[in-house]
Amino acid sequence: MIRVDSVNLSFSHEGEVNQVLQGISFAVKAEGSCAIIGPSGCGKTSLLFLLAGLLQPDAGTITITGSPRTGTILQHYGLFPWKTVVENIGLGLQLKGEAKDRIGARVEGLLAEMGLTGFGRHYPAQLSGGMQQRVAMARALAIEPQILFMDEPLSSLDALSRERLQNLILQVWRDKRITTILVTHSIEEAVYLGRQIIVLSQRPGRILQIVDNPGAGSREYRQTEQFFHNCNQLRRILKEEDHGPEA
Ligand SMILES: Nc1ncnc2c1ncn2[C@@H]1O[C@H](COP(=O)(O)OP(=O)(O)OP(=O)(O)O)[C@@H](O)[C@H]1O
Ligand SMILES: [Mg+2]
Repeated sequence: MIRVDSVNLSFSHEGEVNQVLQGISFAVKAEGSCAIIGPSGCGKTSLLFLLAGLLQPDAGTITITGSPRTGTILQHYGLFPWKTVVENIGLGLQLKGEAKDRIGARVEGLLAEMGLTGFGRHYPAQLSGGMQQRVAMARALAIEPQILFMDEPLSSLDALSRERLQNLILQVWRDKRITTILVTHSIEEAVYLGRQIIVLSQRPGRILQIVDNPGAGSREYRQTEQFFHNCNQLRRILKEEDHGPEA
């Protein structure tokens, strides 16, 4: 469904060229789940923007078959502070020109699904981080996307809220059969949620390894030996990148 071929990306600033991504190639199947992990500044957000069509590569191609509807959850949620929860969630549908009563019904359903019933008239600043995160999720799901792009959606949450929302992402992926691409800093999160894990190097981001992780997709996976094994493997790859091979 998604195919990335030899993609390079750089930004120029005052005549200085800053190479951000180098020779990136991978493919994600329809209904697949892919996690992207790598050090800060290595180009994860840029890669997600390329996939979402918000940036164009300098070289290489990105092909997405069919013209799927896509939903995006940006780093730091991207909610509009001056709009209420209901208005934020309904935004995509409004832009598509949906009728008001249909938007109302859909938003009401999503509020319930995300455990936000009763908070529709609140503004984002009146909600906890976890609740804002669920609003961002509801907004992305409102247009019934076939692909969901998420940029570190859970990074500012405490451990328990984070686990709860990881389970929500898992459930969304399983029940709605949405292809998910998740950028994360967390090794455990990548292994829990990505059947395919793309490990990037320091900037300029190159692919260090693509780890197959077919066990991901159930709640029980967290307690399995394979889960710990794959977390350790990922930790090793990232550590070597950080310090060079351990003595
Ligand atoms: N619009 C832009 N103009 C110029 N440089 C940019 C732009 N966006 C990103 N960069 C540069 O590209 C590099 C990669 O940024 P990116 O945001 O993709 O990293 P990241 O892996 O998502 O980092 P983090 O984990 O901290 O979110 C950084 O060096 C950044 O300064
Ligand atoms: Mg980022």
